[in-house]
Amino acid sequence: MSHQLIKVYEEGQVGVIQLNRPKVLNALNRQMVDEIVEQLEVYDRNPEIRVMVIKGNDKVFAAGADIDEMLEDTPLSIELTDPFAVWDRMTLIKKPIIAAVNGFCLGGAFELALHCDLIIAGEDAKFGFPEVKLGVMPGAGGTQLLTKAIGQRRALEWIWLGEMHDADEAKSLGIVNRVVAPELVEEEAMRFTHSLAKQAPISVRLIKEAVRAAGDLPLREGMRLERKNFYLAFDSEDQTEGMKAFVEKRPPNFKGV
Ligand code: CAA
Repeated sequence: MSHQLIKVYEEGQVGVIQLNRPKVLNALNRQMVDEIVEQLEVYDRNPEIRVMVIKGNDKVFAAGADIDEMLEDTPLSIELTDPFAVWDRMTLIKKPIIAAVNGFCLGGAFELALHCDLIIAGEDAKFGFPEVKLGVMPGAGGTQLLTKAIGQRRALEWIWLGEMHDADEAKSLGIVNRVVAPELVEEEAMRFTHSLAKQAPISVRLIKEAVRAAGDLPLREGMRLERKNFYLAFDSEDQTEGMKAFVEKRPPNFKGV
């Protein structure tokens, strides 16, 4: 698959997607979002890949949706082109997705990071939803995902005022998992993803499904899903390998089957 607005490469069992429109601070136009989601789906189906990373460059993750592209939009043009439908496909990805964020992570880019399972940020990262300043509002899940992450009152403050927030504040509110020096973001993201890639892949995906369901399902249904996934893990060779390795006092060798 050839891409124009992202770069993709693999490092061992980690698939990396790099946003690549540096002249416009990686502004996410619709083609770019299509390319990102298509590549995530390719990695999700590739048995050699266990974890994915989405990153920008060392100056910027991305400065939001492409404003030039939205200038001529009308309610009907958006209804007919349905540009947000592709975002729904991102919620169906089963393997872990880690966002590695340097610099601006605004608007649609913040939504992209919030769609990821974990965020590793540099001390230089700036998060926010400036849409209100453009006379619009987040449209790719921002009101829902940020509210689930930090609660209604804080989410309203962030989205109403449209200000930028630094990585430490985002970490203190549970949006960001780790904050490191700007030049160490990539290294930390790869270190983390490589260690995650060593875990039993079937456990990792079943855990993702169950934890993500906690945000959507009532407790009883979430518990039921957890139990089913627990049972399903016992159908894997990795369950036998993991428990045997423990008993034999050796490290497990997980194969993802
Ligand atoms: N869309 C299109 N172009 C953008 C862009 C965007 N979101 N953000 C930056 N650019 C372009 C600029 O127009 C500029 O292009 P030119 O060199 O051709 O003039 C180039 O990128 C560099 O940007 P700046 O000169 O503005 O850089 P700066 O360092 O002075 O400022 C910034 C950086 C504060 C991030 C500023 O660029 C900015 O405010 N960008 C817009 C942020 C924004 O409003 N994002 C939300 C978009 S709406 C959205 O995302 C909706 C949704 O939920 C789906």
